[in-house]
Amino acid sequence: MNIDFDACLVGSSSYDTVVGDWWSDRAEDSAHKKAYARIAEAIRKHCGIFEQIVDYACGNGQLLAALHKVFPHAHLIGYDGSSKMISRAKALVGSAATLRKTALPNSSLPAHYADVVVFAFPNLYLEDESAKNHSLERAAARLLSTPSPEDTDSQRSIFEGLIEERMITRNLWHLCKPGRWCVRVTYAGASLRGLSRIEQRRTRFEQGYATTVAGKKVPRYFSLHKSVFYRSQVIHDVYHQTKDKQDKSGGYFINFLRALP
Ligand SMILES: C[S@@+](CC[C@H](N)C(=O)[O-])C[C@H]1O[C@@H](n2cnc3c(N)ncnc32)[C@H](O)[C@@H]1O
Repeated sequence: MNIDFDACLVGSSSYDTVVGDWWSDRAEDSAHKKAYARIAEAIRKHCGIFEQIVDYACGNGQLLAALHKVFPHAHLIGYDGSSKMISRAKALVGSAATLRKTALPNSSLPAHYADVVVFAFPNLYLEDESAKNHSLERAAARLLSTPSPEDTDSQRSIFEGLIEERMITRNLWHLCKPGRWCVRVTYAGASLRGLSRIEQRRTRFEQGYATTVAGKKVPRYFSLHKSVFYRSQVIHDVYHQTKDKQDKSGGYFINFLRALP
């Protein structure tokens, strides 16, 4: 499928376009199915048994289906901005999950109710820029976006990316019960420890478990409990969009984060 990703990926309903068909094909292949089963099992192993599990940007419901197998008695909730993805998820999981179409992040969603919020294989296109104004976060993001020799993106786009990630992190925290879990599954070329120093610092900042950036204290939302890395062909999701050969190898890491009070 030859897709003009730049033209399609605009706003929360981006996946209502041909990108949604591309994603559905990919999410149903063997590499993704294996990843979803592994993520659900890793949540059971590291986090325990739960009542309320949120799949943030749930796509066509493949992860919800895997979660339902492992947590048959949990109340599963899926949020996504695309009608196409929500209706495919409904067809797949039926009454096993409550599904809601909403642009994310969304600070009017119920607060602090989930035992686990999972955010897997992210590819969010944000609409609401209004919450971007935390001055301390902007100052930290400015420092962290200073280009390093390995960066191919411009300083401006690194900065914007960091700020958007913080908005998402705040929203993930808003959904979590204090002391409970946010599970982030992130495409990566290497394990968290294998990333370069600057990439590790950016990840800490983005996912809200950094305390200081160049001596400045930024708000902390989570503590990192554990990080596990898996090699997987799912990394080709990124390659399809970037056409960068570097994005042909790697896999994903799962970060288990505890929500701070
Ligand atoms: C790469 S897919 C991942 C889906 C799912 N997490 C999974 O692992 O199968 C990204 C999902 O994010 C959704 N999305 C993108 N931008 C969004 C936004 N601003 N608000 C809500 N959903 C969004 C898309 O509709 C799509 O379902």
